[in-house]
Amino acid sequence: MKSIREYVEISVEKAFDEAQIDKKFAKVVKSQRPDLCQFQCNGALAAAKSIGKNPREIGQNIVDILSKNADFSKVEIAGAGFVNITLKDEIIAKIILSQNFENSKDNFSQTIILDFGGPNVAKPMHVGHLRSAIIGDCLRRLFKYLGYKVIADNHLGDWGTQMGMLICKTKEKYPNLPYFDENFSGEYPQNPPFDISELELLYPQASKECKENPENLAQAIKATDELQQGKIGFVALWKHFVKLSKDTLKNDFSKLDVEFDFWLGESFYADRMKEIVEYLKKENFAKESQGALVFEVGEPSDTKEIPPVLLVKSGGGFLYATSDIATIDYRVKEFSPNRICYVVDKRQSLHFEQVFRAVKKAKIAPQNLLLEHIGFGTVNGADGKPYKTREGGVMKLCDLIDSVINKAKVRIEEAGLATDASENEKTKIAETVGISALKFADLSNHRLSDYVFDLDKFCAFEGKTGPYLLYTAVRIKSIIRKVKDAKIVSRDILVTDNDRDLLLEIGRLSDVLESAGVDCSPNYLCDYIYGLSQEFNRFYNNSPILREENSKLQSSRLKIAEITLKTIETVLEILGINIPERM
Ligand code: ARG
Repeated sequence: MKSIREYVEISVEKAFDEAQIDKKFAKVVKSQRPDLCQFQCNGALAAAKSIGKNPREIGQNIVDILSKNADFSKVEIAGAGFVNITLKDEIIAKIILSQNFENSKDNFSQTIILDFGGPNVAKPMHVGHLRSAIIGDCLRRLFKYLGYKVIADNHLGDWGTQMGMLICKTKEKYPNLPYFDENFSGEYPQNPPFDISELELLYPQASKECKENPENLAQAIKATDELQQGKIGFVALWKHFVKLSKDTLKNDFSKLDVEFDFWLGESFYADRMKEIVEYLKKENFAKESQGALVFEVGEPSDTKEIPPVLLVKSGGGFLYATSDIATIDYRVKEFSPNRICYVVDKRQSLHFEQVFRAVKKAKIAPQNLLLEHIGFGTVNGADGKPYKTREGGVMKLCDLIDSVINKAKVRIEEAGLATDASENEKTKIAETVGISALKFADLSNHRLSDYVFDLDKFCAFEGKTGPYLLYTAVRIKSIIRKVKDAKIVSRDILVTDNDRDLLLEIGRLSDVLESAGVDCSPNYLCDYIYGLSQEFNRFYNNSPILREENSKLQSSRLKIAEITLKTIETVLEILGINIPERM
């Protein structure tokens, strides 16, 4: 798929070629002055500078060449050498009609690994993981649409100190379990000693005790070291923790319609961490420091201090950074990626800076591998502090999802929607609307900004919200259904003053997708689709379909409605938002 702008750019490139000017200057942008023209090329100015000619002369030359092109209704020079371009209406119609929504660009030779989700075993997912999951999954869909080979990996936190904390806590509560019996030689039990709700209660207790009591923390670190060194009882118990957690996490992610190709997790790299540390020692990158092993990554040119990467603790345990370095080593060897994007809280930026420097310095990653930390801000409560439950505890993701679905249900009733649907269908619609509210609210903010969690605002059917977009999509569907019932068929597009802006907006889709991918910014898609919905509503208010007497106009408007719907559906799909059949 190409945008209308790209079509124009191709002609302008040819004109630059003909004028024997480097076509890198032939960039075309959407006009800043829609009253004067639809597109602009400002390249004559830069070209003039580079070859030492008069910009207006170059601009006029380009205008003269483009004026012979039958696609344009107007090509003019303005100001110091700007080229203003307007397309003929039939060309706009032709481009829009030829749009193929199924495939976008051919980027199959490029592989992108997306590292997102990444919750921690035994800690319930919270709103921070929600952002990672929603933004990461949207980027997964976007890059796939843009034709990249995408690998989505859920880098589960299953190998850190919290594992040792849980082992100690379990031992304290159930000291007679075989996992703690040094002389045990039988088979460890198949079933876990407790269920997930108990596990989720044990973790905060253990974590609190470790914070308050250094002795507890020392025990937990020791247990973690023993687990990492393969103590069989601990490994058997740890497997239960992981299994219990994964089952719950899978459930949460599936409610959100978030998908991964892999769930490798930190523990998957246990052996590689050992190997990579040996390699770093051998190559003199790793150095002893106060009993620990560190990797210096600071540079003389640094304006702020970048501390060394901690690779191995004095007790022998590996760290978060060690696992990330080993993970990059594996990913490079296994998938040969061109780009790895980490969708993780922006407060981890130093960690990623250190890790990225380490792998480049030690030549674990090729120099041209793009490593990017796609950070995001915090979800806050009305008090401006990170969002909590009413009691002040961490808001569990599953409770949060339930609350948004309940709110959507209330809103749907208040708005008098879906009144004739069965109870079952009403519940399904509320789920779809609720998840759309949650996802759209998250994605429509620039990912680096913090935002306030405001259920009332997210679930409103007016304004820039998920429910508003679903409502618009369902409304267009129903308009199309009614028009088709009246035996009207969609054919050509006849561009008129009432729909030209809508068509130009539809013709921007490919550009918007492209720049959202470059900047990893789903909010571009949200802005676009909201603007498009408003533009459609304006069009439809001025251009009714059923009441129109001219049958050609009628069928053109039906076609325009269909293509608008297709555009909205395409973008919502990439945002990970489903549209209900009716509402
Ligand atoms: N488990 C980490 C956390 O909850 C996120 C993991 C992100 N991915 C990574 N490769 N470090 O903060």
